[in-house]
Amino acid sequence: MERDILTPEALPGERAQERVIRPQRLAEFVGQKNLKEQLSIYIEAARKRGGVLDHVLFHGQPGLGKTTLATIISQELGVGLKVTAGPILEKKLDLAAILNNLNDGDVVFIDEIHRLSPVVEEVLYPAMEDFRLDLIVGEGPGARSVRLEIPRFTLVGATTRVGLLTPPLRDRFGIQLRLNYYEAEDLVQIVSRAAAILNIALAPEGAREIAVRSRGTPRVANRILNRTRDFAEVKGDGVITREMADLALSLQGIDKAGLDELGRRILLTIVERYRGGPVGLEALAATIGEEAETLIEIYEPYLIQEGFLLRTPRGRIVTPKASEHLGLAPPETAPSSSPLVTI
Ligand SMILES: Nc1ncnc2c1ncn2[C@@H]1O[C@H](COP(=O)(O)OP(=O)(O)OP(=O)(O)O)[C@@H](O)[C@H]1O
Ligand SMILES: [Mg+2]
Repeated sequence: MERDILTPEALPGERAQERVIRPQRLAEFVGQKNLKEQLSIYIEAARKRGGVLDHVLFHGQPGLGKTTLATIISQELGVGLKVTAGPILEKKLDLAAILNNLNDGDVVFIDEIHRLSPVVEEVLYPAMEDFRLDLIVGEGPGARSVRLEIPRFTLVGATTRVGLLTPPLRDRFGIQLRLNYYEAEDLVQIVSRAAAILNIALAPEGAREIAVRSRGTPRVANRILNRTRDFAEVKGDGVITREMADLALSLQGIDKAGLDELGRRILLTIVERYRGGPVGLEALAATIGEEAETLIEIYEPYLIQEGFLLRTPRGRIVTPKASEHLGLAPPETAPSSSPLVTI
């Protein structure tokens, strides 16, 4: 699937390992303090009332913990979890079958919920609101509508592109929580925890080096931890020191700011080919030879957050910080200081 190549999803060999290190309870989930606080209150309240938790929408960049939180919610509530994804649900009946086979209070997790087809989405509306399915059985004049009661459930939706959700779907989520990039301190904790579970010898300065070069993303941090362990075992004595982490990261082309080759190429292209910008997304993507989606979903958010890139109505602009990071002089016609020329 295209998305598998584009997103920093776990590689097949790492999947089993992901299961071991993925936090199971809210208390093990590091960082995202505000989100965690809210979620624990909503869960507690639902539990006390003996009711079901309202539907939850998580949005945020890939690898920040949306799937993990869906699992945690079902664990904390002590209910079952059914996992599916927007692109997998092709027909109404695909979703109807899942919803019709739940136990009372179960969690249904729909990943990439912005990619649900409109017909499937329609099934979801009455299901989310009144726990019922409205289905049409048969075709032509003999067709009749059937109304089916289904068990109460909590829908947990996850998306990297919340803007692509239709407003009626989005409005039906009573709880909407955004995941942010993690602080370096949180990532230090996350890799240290993973290293302890996986029996990896990780020195504190090694953990810090990995943390600051992981683009604020736990999945990236855990992946780097694994690759660095390989280096430490082959090139060193197995201990991940700061030097060892630096060596491994540099060889993988990950720089001090955590940017990989493509991240740097985006900035470099804007500086060299577009004199610092502004440049439209499509033009930029074409010049680089990448999908616009990849740029929007994976690269831009971090470049913007770190102050390397600005998104303006006229297009993307690199900042002096980016030029400095790349070791280049700032573009001659610095966008902020360029006089407006009318012809
Ligand atoms: N807060 C956290 N504390 C500890 N580990 C975390 C945390 N968040 C994520 N992780 C780890 O990072 C990995 C990626 O998280 P997860 O799969 O939940 O991300 P995601 O947001 O669902 O990504 P995607 O959008 O690509 O599906 C998990 O294996 C988990 O171990
Ligand atoms: Mg996920």
